[in-house]
Amino acid sequence: MAHKSDIRIFYCDTERLDSAALAAAASHLSIKEQDRRDRLHFEADRRDFTIAHSLLRQSLSAHAGVPPSDWRFDVDRYGKPSIANCDPRAKALSFSLSHTRGCVACAITEEVPLGIDLERIDESLRVQEIADRYFSEEEAAWLSQCSDEQRNTAFTELWTLKEALLKAIGIGLSASLKKVSFRFGHYARIEFSAPFTFRPNEWHFALFEPSRDVRLAVCVQSATTPYFTMSSCERNGYAVVPIRTSAPLLRKQTFEGDRSPLPICGPYLPIYSAKL
Ligand SMILES: CC(C)(COP(=O)(O)OP(=O)(O)OC[C@H]1O[C@@H](n2cnc3c(N)ncnc32)[C@H](O)[C@@H]1OP(=O)(O)O)[C@@H](O)C(=O)NCCC(=O)NCCS
Repeated sequence: MAHKSDIRIFYCDTERLDSAALAAAASHLSIKEQDRRDRLHFEADRRDFTIAHSLLRQSLSAHAGVPPSDWRFDVDRYGKPSIANCDPRAKALSFSLSHTRGCVACAITEEVPLGIDLERIDESLRVQEIADRYFSEEEAAWLSQCSDEQRNTAFTELWTLKEALLKAIGIGLSASLKKVSFRFGHYARIEFSAPFTFRPNEWHFALFEPSRDVRLAVCVQSATTPYFTMSSCERNGYAVVPIRTSAPLLRKQTFEGDRSPLPICGPYLPIYSAKL
């Protein structure tokens, strides 16, 4: 039996994929997705869009036995997608998707809201100015104390966490980034504070470093402690451990007793894991 707080994350470095992998991915896309892809100006963005949506479709298929091309999606007024298939097992899945130039990722779980965000560290950005304007006072002050070498990485880590949270809630950047505040405590711990309407114990975070200049954050709202499992296509599908979490690192990675991870079923394993 799948547990509601198993969070599966799939990450793919798209720059390493060959044209056969891209063609296989493109064959999963719906007409609507093909239209959206074809409207993108840059080839790299069309590639990333294709891989992102194919990776999502395959990852969902791995958990519900629906073929990748058969997934249908609704989109709400904030742009948040959800599953439109009628099959109850398919409908129970929740997911989030993110892409940035050269890499894509999705996260899947059952029933609880989750959000994922992926960003490349941009050393040319004047991050302190952005933080002073958009981050909480505490975050901006902490960033100002970081060394010049660390500041852009720290900024990207905070940014991805904030965006992952706003994507889990479903409102994205239409909400203020100032209202929630993250702090990095001892033992790679992520601490979080937010307005009183949030129950802090229900929100869980993990931050990954899928490659040196990329950060990936996942947020989940769950009454129980979630277990984050990330597979990276770059590492042939092997698990990648978070660099920071909102709960002790070791406990998160251990499956206990009769708990089993969200089952992978049928022939629908994400192909890129095998191909690289
Ligand atoms: C969601 C949002 C944060 C995405 O940020 P981003 O860093 O540019 O993009 P990412 O690659 O991380 O995420 C994109 C994916 O997030 C998902 N997404 C889009 N809107 C979302 C939302 N409101 N909540 C959760 N997920 C959302 C989609 O799957 C999208 O992928 P797609 O465009 O390929 O279909 C940003 O688009 C946003 O703030 N949207 C809400 C804005 C709004 O208020 N819209 C009102 C409609 S007019």
